[in-house]
Amino acid sequence: MKNLTVVQNPLVKRDITYLRNKETKEYQFRLALRRISYALVNEISNQFALKEIEVESPLEITKGFKLEQQIVLVPVLRAGLSMVTAFIEMIPDAKVGHIGLQRDEQTLQPVDYYYKTPKNLDISKVIVLDPMLATGGSASAALTFLKNKGANDLILSCLIAAPEGVKKLEIDHPEIPVFTAALDRELNSNGYILPGLGDAGDRTFGTL
Ligand code: PRP
Ligand code: URA
Repeated sequence: MKNLTVVQNPLVKRDITYLRNKETKEYQFRLALRRISYALVNEISNQFALKEIEVESPLEITKGFKLEQQIVLVPVLRAGLSMVTAFIEMIPDAKVGHIGLQRDEQTLQPVDYYYKTPKNLDISKVIVLDPMLATGGSASAALTFLKNKGANDLILSCLIAAPEGVKKLEIDHPEIPVFTAALDRELNSNGYILPGLGDAGDRTFGTL
């Protein structure tokens, strides 16, 4: 996929290993997930346009910068919530929308249960946060919803992607850049990513 970026550095690779390890406790899991989210937001921010401004230091007036566009973060409930802290620390004036989607475990189709997004999506850069891109059904539905609400500058940020999900997005939303920290091998017959990390929501929130 030409729009796919796999963010890789030694710390991210170490933290993905913590996430995969079934012995990793919830608090360590959340911390590793947050650290990877910092790496993702750093990489994604290379896409942000800057506006030149003047700033007065104690010594003189000089050139400075601010972000040109409003940033809107949209975590997909529940698991996407775990990525918000890192993104919002790095972009403190971001607005945050929420999309509630749950995958039906039989059909693997996303079922929606909540939507709340800020105004002016049409002039914002909108970053969808969801750690797992498996079949791609949830991410594709979230992106379609946001497009219908007027968003036209979208990015998807996940932690682990399956080739099946990447292919679905290539078909449904070929123009949208996707950032991930790992591209795994395949899905199993239950739609779980292999090797993956199991159920991201359950492991984050202790609902196993
Ligand atoms: C997980 C994950 C994605 C979705 C990915 O959520 O966070 O939203 O599955 O699967 P897909 O690509 O096949 O759609 P889940 O439905 O388990 O809900 P949860 O976050 O509430 O646990
Ligand atoms: N959702 C998850 O949380 N994990 C998977 O492997 C697939 C979907």
